[in-house]
Amino acid sequence: MIEARKIREKIKNKKAVISIIGLGYVGLPLALEFTRKGFLVYGYDNNSRRVSKLKRGVEYISDVKGEFALQLIKRGRFVPTTDKKVLGKSDIIIICVPTPLRKVKIPDISYIIIATKEIASVMKQNTLVILESTTYPGTCREVILPILKKARQEKFFLAFSPERIDPGNKRYTLNRIPKVVGGIDNISARLAAQLYRQIVKRVHIVSALETAEMVKILENTFRLINIALVNEFALLAHKLGINIWEVIKVAATKPFGFMPFYPGPGIGGHCIPVDPLYIAWRAKRAGFKTKMIDLALQLNRYMPKYIVQRIKLMLKKKNISFKKAKILVIGIAYKKDVKDLRESAALDILEILKKEKVNVAYYDPLIPYLNIKGLKMYSVKLDRANLKGYDCVVIVTDHSNIDYKLIQQYSKLVFDTRNVYSGNFSNVRRL
Ligand SMILES: NC(=O)c1ccc[n+]([C@@H]2O[C@H](COP(=O)([O-])OP(=O)(O)OC[C@H]3O[C@@H](n4cnc5c(N)ncnc54)[C@H](O)[C@@H]3O)[C@@H](O)[C@H]2O)c1
Repeated sequence: MIEARKIREKIKNKKAVISIIGLGYVGLPLALEFTRKGFLVYGYDNNSRRVSKLKRGVEYISDVKGEFALQLIKRGRFVPTTDKKVLGKSDIIIICVPTPLRKVKIPDISYIIIATKEIASVMKQNTLVILESTTYPGTCREVILPILKKARQEKFFLAFSPERIDPGNKRYTLNRIPKVVGGIDNISARLAAQLYRQIVKRVHIVSALETAEMVKILENTFRLINIALVNEFALLAHKLGINIWEVIKVAATKPFGFMPFYPGPGIGGHCIPVDPLYIAWRAKRAGFKTKMIDLALQLNRYMPKYIVQRIKLMLKKKNISFKKAKILVIGIAYKKDVKDLRESAALDILEILKKEKVNVAYYDPLIPYLNIKGLKMYSVKLDRANLKGYDCVVIVTDHSNIDYKLIQQYSKLVFDTRNVYSGNFSNVRRL
């Protein structure tokens, strides 16, 4: 209790030293936010290239300006490092490491385990450890707790608080999204909540660690399933000759009971295609089958194939052989205005087209080159002459800073999977 009071005082006076493990999409904005609020923050990342970029003011995440991070580094309040010893100097340690899938599509929590072992090897007594990485319910209690206990018996605090950041979202930035906190005990939960109140207005404390773990997975599974539903409606609407975008726009005028989701070329990113598999795996262990999740994944994974089929049909209607066609994919990041390629549906589309031996190129202002999944390509120039050379231009990711007017004016055929063009143009086909 006395120790909790000490940390509480330190948080209140901004004297608590915070370490963030993992300076990625989640950890870096969080580290900078705590620094901005007056805390000394160590950013520990074992990727020396990222740490070196930060120290040089080079940005690697679209939402974080390199120059801004550099200013905080120069003031000595944000210290990016590859040295895990900083964890031993910290009162609070927040884990923001990846939680991907293994090849066999089951949770890979090895990054969490490694990070926890690193903490256990150097942490001082009474440290507050918080996990922010998305994971299945039970990870904190069954995986993290035993590792920390072995090193420090009972003398630490443990909480889970899922990161809910939406990269590229200018309206809901980190400090405008309420936090959820669950603790191994009441003191841990209350300490973590007090910490997050320094950077966000609303913090919800839940009754158990597992509740907080499940909240995040429910949020992302909700998106997965609604996207699948709207994709299914898009396929049907096309068959029936109905404009799905208009249907959604008008359905959204209902002031209650409906939330608009939009169809697209498939799901991508670190969250939507991944997190539901974490809970599906956990459910299986409990002898429970997640039918909705399995079906939604199946529907969404079909979308890249559907996009290619539609391209084939459009070209056929124009008497152009699919195999001899020249296709340009616009936007390959997994979503608008981010540089992130993880699980991007555009990669599946490129892969299918390459397998079919189609002449395909891409343009993405945020991703100048691509070297992934056996695809080695450079972004082409988007100009009048180039556009005229393609038989079909497919808009897959609708980044803001793309000249869509130019694309419409000089392309023979545009397949718009994101409803970029709301007007009627003879050369534009919508999803
Ligand atoms: N990206 C998102 O939009 C988002 C949103 C909410 C939640 N999340 C969740 O947050 C977690 C982190 O995601 P991210 O997108 O920030 O990942 P990321 O890959 O961008 O960053 C993770 C960082 O952790 C570092 N790292 C890994 N293991 C380490 C270790 N043992 N010691 C030190 N550094 C280590 C990596 O080098 C990397 O820089 C995941 O669980 C993800 O599901 C992500």
